[in-house]
Amino acid sequence: MKLNYRGMTIYVEKDYAAMSRAAAELLVQTVKENSATVLGLATGSTPIGMYQEVVKAYQRGEVDFARTLSYNLDEYYPINHDNDQSYHYFMRENLFRHINILPENTHVPSGEAKDVERSAAEYDEKIYAIGGVDLQVLGIGNNGHIGFNEPAAIFAKGTGLVDLTESTISANSRFFASIDDVPKKAVSMGIATIMQAKRIMLLASGQGKAGIVAQTILGEITPQVPASALQLHRNVTFFLDEAAAAELLAKLGK
Ligand code: GLP
Repeated sequence: MKLNYRGMTIYVEKDYAAMSRAAAELLVQTVKENSATVLGLATGSTPIGMYQEVVKAYQRGEVDFARTLSYNLDEYYPINHDNDQSYHYFMRENLFRHINILPENTHVPSGEAKDVERSAAEYDEKIYAIGGVDLQVLGIGNNGHIGFNEPAAIFAKGTGLVDLTESTISANSRFFASIDDVPKKAVSMGIATIMQAKRIMLLASGQGKAGIVAQTILGEITPQVPASALQLHRNVTFFLDEAAAAELLAKLGK
């Protein structure tokens, strides 16, 4: 099902696999149209299926990433880039090493930088210098965070060091040996960095995300629900499975 709500495009797919295929189609199509596309990429469990579909399309010879650039949303801080929970590691394992994107064309905020604020500011400068992100992929946290922009009193502008909330630390502890191993901070693109992308796609799956998805699309635009800022973007597409869309569809009477 395809919906349009106040200028936002919303695809509701049967399940996770169908959502992943639909999302991959948009990403692949974008790179096919312009092989020098600048992708903004996301981690988390949600986009893994999409990345697998992208890899399959590459293996079928449908798409070429030789000129593609990528800028990831975020990274834990501090974290060693070889740590298997780092987002550097995640991106290598789930996407980069399976396609022909050049390692020097991939960028992930540094979790190792000594001067983290400076390295974060330089990250934004690089993005702006190349003319910005063409297609930004997002997941969504249970509390409405995008990247690692947690609910806050104001929307963060640029890339910077952020404190993770207890709820995010506890949600992400499932990937670590123990909750004490989860870094308490991260480096994340700010809301302004995310919003400069020419096109944004947000993926959400499962009933656990149903409430926050409805709030993001229908609710008040507030930094307490960072993803609600997307209502202000002119080219945003949501890829949801039926479980994640349930509350939205009920509220819309669909
Ligand atoms: C992490 C990432 C986000 C991601 C979110 C949801 O905290 N920083 O970019 O969207 O988790 O993750 P999942 O897709 O596993 O639910």
